[in-house]
Amino acid sequence: MADVVSQSLQYLTGDNARAMAAYLKSLPESAPHSRGVAPELSDEVDRQFRRGGEIYETYCQDCHGSLGQGAPGAYE
Ligand code: HEC
Repeated sequence: MADVVSQSLQYLTGDNARAMAAYLKSLPESAPHSRGVAPELSDEVDRQFRRGGEIYETYCQDCHGSLGQGAPGAYE
């Protein structure tokens, strides 16, 4: 996480941050084993949503899991 913060997240553009936020907010709070079902999206939001998903999968998924579920206890 330190690398993520010091090497990459601080350089994130506003667009990419919004894209990641849109993607993460679309994930279900419960039902960790099913994919989130996105509501009807405008083309622009849809584009951001896809970009956010790509960024998350590339930079965050390894540690936080495909649905943001994390790994409880991993660092205790
Ligand atoms: C190398 C592993 C790793 C990667 C890659 C990673 N994280 Fe993390 N992240 C962690 C760990 C470990 C914590 C602390 C978890 C804890 O508090 O138990 C954390 C915590 C967080 C938190 C705070 C969660 C909370 O409940 O306070 C956020 C938000 C977060 N990460 C976002 C991201 C995002 C966005 C990315 C991708 C850009 C990312 N992380 C990539 C390991 C990682």
